[in-house]
Amino acid sequence: MDSFWDDVDRHLVRYGGTFTPEIIDSASGSFLFTEDGRRVLDFTSGQMSAILGHSHPRVVETVQRQIANLDHLFSGMLSRPVVDLARRLAGTLPPSLSKVQLLTTGAESNEAALRMAKLVTGKHEVVAFARSWHGMTAAAAAATYSAGRKGYGPAAPGNFAIPAPSGDWRTQLDLAFDLVDAQSVGSLAACIVEPILSSGGILEPPPGYFAALREKCRERGMLLIFDEAQTGLCRTGTWYAFERDGVVPDILTLSKTLGAGLPLAAVVTSAEIEEEAHARGYLFFTTHVSDPLVAAVGNTVLDVLEEERLDERAAKLGAFLRTGLEDIAARHSLVSDVRGRGLLVGLEIADESLSAPITRRCLELGLHMNIVQMPGMGGVFRIAPPLTASEEELELGLGILDEAIGAAG
Ligand SMILES: Cc1ncc(COP(=O)(O)O)c(C=O)c1O
Repeated sequence: MDSFWDDVDRHLVRYGGTFTPEIIDSASGSFLFTEDGRRVLDFTSGQMSAILGHSHPRVVETVQRQIANLDHLFSGMLSRPVVDLARRLAGTLPPSLSKVQLLTTGAESNEAALRMAKLVTGKHEVVAFARSWHGMTAAAAAATYSAGRKGYGPAAPGNFAIPAPSGDWRTQLDLAFDLVDAQSVGSLAACIVEPILSSGGILEPPPGYFAALREKCRERGMLLIFDEAQTGLCRTGTWYAFERDGVVPDILTLSKTLGAGLPLAAVVTSAEIEEEAHARGYLFFTTHVSDPLVAAVGNTVLDVLEEERLDERAAKLGAFLRTGLEDIAARHSLVSDVRGRGLLVGLEIADESLSAPITRRCLELGLHMNIVQMPGMGGVFRIAPPLTASEEELELGLGILDEAIGAAG
């Protein structure tokens, strides 16, 4: 008898949610393959990361070549893949975002961004959305409000939540900052936000919101940090989600999509902020900072995104997916909303109790879906297929989702 699931029970720490009841054996393109021979369409790009699908041949080739040549270095040593990626990333961004530090995970990139903001401003207070997710390490977790707040002792002092925008957002934003000002000890350093809140339920702030937020930050001498872990690198139909708003952050963090499934993250800022941070002794020295292996992968990810114009493809496929989801919504009353941008889309289910059976049925029919619970509302399926997916694959997923929702309703 195979002891796999017994070993899971005996030996694995349960770190959040439940494990998917399948043993995944391999993955290729938009599909996962289970040990018992089933094919499952991956509508979450792994953990919202594998924008080129799984085991993209160009990424496989890069990893094989790079690991045989130069894998990892003393953290103060530099190699060409790292400097190439820094230069190329800056080339995809507005001119002010020219200085890059390469790291490993999303939480870590936010940790570094917040550390830099605190050092440069000489202040320590941080504002974030009440539906945010910025990661599991100290400062990132202290600015994360959508989950995991309770039971871990005090968060860093000086963290404030503002509502994710809704309704009359201008009045809401004014009131939010009245409260921030009332609570602040006069040490506001930064505001960190996702341009589209993902774990918060695929919430897209309205046009104009980020310009107004930028003004709130400017008035208070705070730095604005955009966390584009999920939205960066073409996912929403443009290279970066902030392009819609024309609001350039002081610091940008990238992760998940940058390594397309491999652990690579970046903090990007202006020459002025970097200069000031350096003058004040900025220290963020980690084991895997500036590692050549994943930097080489990052360069390959940029190659593929550029050569295959995956920004345009994400916009086109996103419109296709959106039409299909709106069609499903029109035929099933339990779907209460469809929202998002490009290939980052949310499908809201009014009755939260149906979300688990729908997810289960999708998996039985060969589709992996992820749902986030919304306090006081329904559940939201987060749909983020690889940017390399075909229309046929999206159609397959839509068909399965339609059937699973039909069976639940
Ligand atoms: C917007 C955002 N920021 C940061 C993170 C944290 O990234 P990581 O899990 O790589 O630390 C996530 C992860 O879900 C995220 O969605």
